[in-house]
Amino acid sequence: MSDVLLLNGPNMRLLGRRQPEIYGTDTLADIEKAVAVEIGERGWQLAAYQSDSEAELIGLIEDNYTCVGAIINPAALMMYGWGLRDALANFPRPWVEVHLSNVWAREAFRHESVISPLASGIIVGLGAFGYQLAARALLQLVDG
Ligand code: DQA
Repeated sequence: MSDVLLLNGPNMRLLGRRQPEIYGTDTLADIEKAVAVEIGERGWQLAAYQSDSEAELIGLIEDNYTCVGAIINPAALMMYGWGLRDALANFPRPWVEVHLSNVWAREAFRHESVISPLASGIIVGLGAFGYQLAARALLQLVDG
């Protein structure tokens, strides 16, 4: 029980080359490396996954109930991922939601979230640094 689960949803694989004016130039590998450094301070390991499939993300959540906690960017599933929401409702560990962009400063269709009410906390609009902040939050949220 010393893994932090990092989940990224649809379209996050191309980070760094995906609308860099909105999402920045850091790749997912850059982000995973930075998060691993943050949690390494406590001796925790990173288990990082990206999937475009809601079903796969649900499976990963179900398979990782014994992790320390999770950092999750549900990407567009924030708006319509009811299955993901139900999976997270039963997830027994703290988890922090991250969005690179400030979704509430963008199109109206991004303003409603089916996921966010369940999160321990939410970090939006701070780019890749938001993932590091989420890792630091987990260090605080989880004892020892
Ligand atoms: C995002 C914001 C979502 O609205 C969008 O669908 C994404 C990325 C973000 O990190 O800013 O795919 O989650």
